[in-house]
Amino acid sequence: MFDKKTYTSRRDHLRKNIKKGIVLILGNVDVPMNYRSNTYRFRQDSNFLYFFGLDQQGLAGVIDVDSGNDIIFGDDYSLDDIIWMGPQASLAERAKDAGVDQTMAFDKLADTLEKAIREKRPVHFLPPYRAENKLLLEKLLGINTSEQASMASVELIGAIVALRSVKEPQEIAEIEKAMEVAWLMHTTAMKMARPGVYEHEIAGVIEGIAISAGGMLSFPLILSIHGETLHNHAHNNKLEEGRLLLMDGGAETAMHYATDHTRTMPVSGRFTDRQKSIYEIVLDAQLQAIGSIRPGKTFKSIHMLAAGVIARGLKSLGLMKGDVEQAVELGAHALFMPHGLGHMMGLDVHDMEDLGEDYVGYDNEVKRSGIFGTAFLRLGRKLQNGFVLTVEPGIYFIPALVDKWEQEGKFKEYIDYTKVRSYLDFGGVRIEDDVLVTGEGYRVLGRPIPKTIADIEQIMAGRR
Ligand code: GLY
Ligand code: MN
Ligand code: MN
Repeated sequence: MFDKKTYTSRRDHLRKNIKKGIVLILGNVDVPMNYRSNTYRFRQDSNFLYFFGLDQQGLAGVIDVDSGNDIIFGDDYSLDDIIWMGPQASLAERAKDAGVDQTMAFDKLADTLEKAIREKRPVHFLPPYRAENKLLLEKLLGINTSEQASMASVELIGAIVALRSVKEPQEIAEIEKAMEVAWLMHTTAMKMARPGVYEHEIAGVIEGIAISAGGMLSFPLILSIHGETLHNHAHNNKLEEGRLLLMDGGAETAMHYATDHTRTMPVSGRFTDRQKSIYEIVLDAQLQAIGSIRPGKTFKSIHMLAAGVIARGLKSLGLMKGDVEQAVELGAHALFMPHGLGHMMGLDVHDMEDLGEDYVGYDNEVKRSGIFGTAFLRLGRKLQNGFVLTVEPGIYFIPALVDKWEQEGKFKEYIDYTKVRSYLDFGGVRIEDDVLVTGEGYRVLGRPIPKTIADIEQIMAGRR
């Protein structure tokens, strides 16, 4: 945990941006995997971590905007618990670490909320994403699970997004700690990749690196010779000569701050000329996008800049044709890059996505596009000093998408489908780094993970 002042100050800041009422922040509970006592690894709710810091099950926090009081609801561990779990601090002791003096038994939460409702005070809650908390909210507030997301407090969401979007120096330091783990994960994959190795052999080592650093993966590892499948979580392929291996993986620290990098490497250790030509376009798009980051610029404009680099590069290879600027505006490039350039990152790898992508990534000034591809951009609004975000362009050859668009004759004035068909065995390339927006521009976080063709080939040459 950070110092308790961090949490009191964050709660006080939040209070200033909410007019009246009480704020309810639910922590998470253990979730059964295949029977009640065999649970998934526990992951605390990120908003609860942000405002209360306590990384344990069965807690809820109430921030009273009007009185200035904070209460943590939870239960002390029983002797039965202690027999199985070992000695545990009392709830009051744990709450002190978060700068909270008042604690109450968890079953008193209902009374507190009922009282506030009776007094016609607003109860601000967030859209729940876990079934357990949806059921709890239904019990506490009498709101049907299907209506909770639409009835969540937009005022609270806005206030939290404003706070969490701008990272504190100690949060940046924590993210940078995770960067060392990220470096080891990705360079290890580069050293392990070779023909004959199974994806799961590498995946297991990579996940082990995250866990052995005291944390865990920040999302299920994407490691595949089918890099064209954007979020491929299956790891059962054998690596073959001539293929590319894409690894999109991140670590999170014991305090749950994330990293998120992607590297694409040739299984053989040397890129073919065809792989090089696609890789160079993606790298150029990534470097130009990163180079243009500065406060005040919209991330949507940087996404479009990267899309333009990709479209022009693909035209130079004969895969696209015609007026590429117009092609990008209409979304033709999305055949090759059907996702957004990046997203916020912090306590969540897609930071605050539980609060609603549009609240995090867009505002009154910058609205989400409705065009396929660009519509999937999670962050579009103006950048500010202190944002941490990812930059992750890619080029993919997705047979099912190519088939569909070709059959429909979609964008045939901009896409040479005959040429594209000759790449259907290619896979995909994505290159992703994590970037801090600074007062003057940007800083790429972490020890550089090999990224140029020469650097990747060099580290892979040292494998044997
Ligand atoms: N975690 C996948 C990505 O957004 O890069
Ligand atoms: Mn990623
Ligand atoms: Mn990402």
